[in-house]
Amino acid sequence: MKNQKKINFILNGERISTSFKPGESALDIIRERLGITAVKQGCEGEGCGACTLIVDDRAVYSCMMPSFRLNGRRVETAENIPITGDKNHIQKNFMDNWAFQCGYCTPGFVNAIESMIREARDKAEINTNFNGNLDDFVKDGLNGHICRCTGYLPIIESAKKSIKDSLKLQDESSNNQDNMDASDEREDVIP
Ligand code: FES
Ligand code: FES
Repeated sequence: MKNQKKINFILNGERISTSFKPGESALDIIRERLGITAVKQGCEGEGCGACTLIVDDRAVYSCMMPSFRLNGRRVETAENIPITGDKNHIQKNFMDNWAFQCGYCTPGFVNAIESMIREARDKAEINTNFNGNLDDFVKDGLNGHICRCTGYLPIIESAKKSIKDSLKLQDESSNNQDNMDASDEREDVIP
């Protein structure tokens, strides 16, 4: 079709090849063309966070991202963040803390928190830029996300719990690795 060009990208682990028209945003492509409804349309002006996607591990406002920039990227929506049995439990923490009512803003928050967990994996971001203060790290990461129903405290508590769980698991796995390394060393000196 005239004026349409192709883009190829990975969406929630699946290869997508689709066309786009000049002026279409990533939000138009993902929500309207591909029908992924966890990506919400809110202000369409970089002010509410409802449209947040994870692109190459970073949270991005899809309403402000031109569609052609999806080409070659790895894109995730909240549908791709596991609900149970996974280390992060973001959605479970939202449920435990009553951190949503209508739920319209929730997928955007979940994506923002997941991208913060990925950034915070080695604690360097929190320690270097926020003096180790998790509260400040969370507030900074959720800045630009609006919830009209719930209030922010339960959302912040859910984010903190999710990040702490993730860092704890990371510590446990690095301790296990240290123990395994130590036992390897011991084996080396056993005659
Ligand atoms: S719809 Fe994109 S930031 Fe509000
Ligand atoms: S739960 Fe309704 S806008 Fe946040």
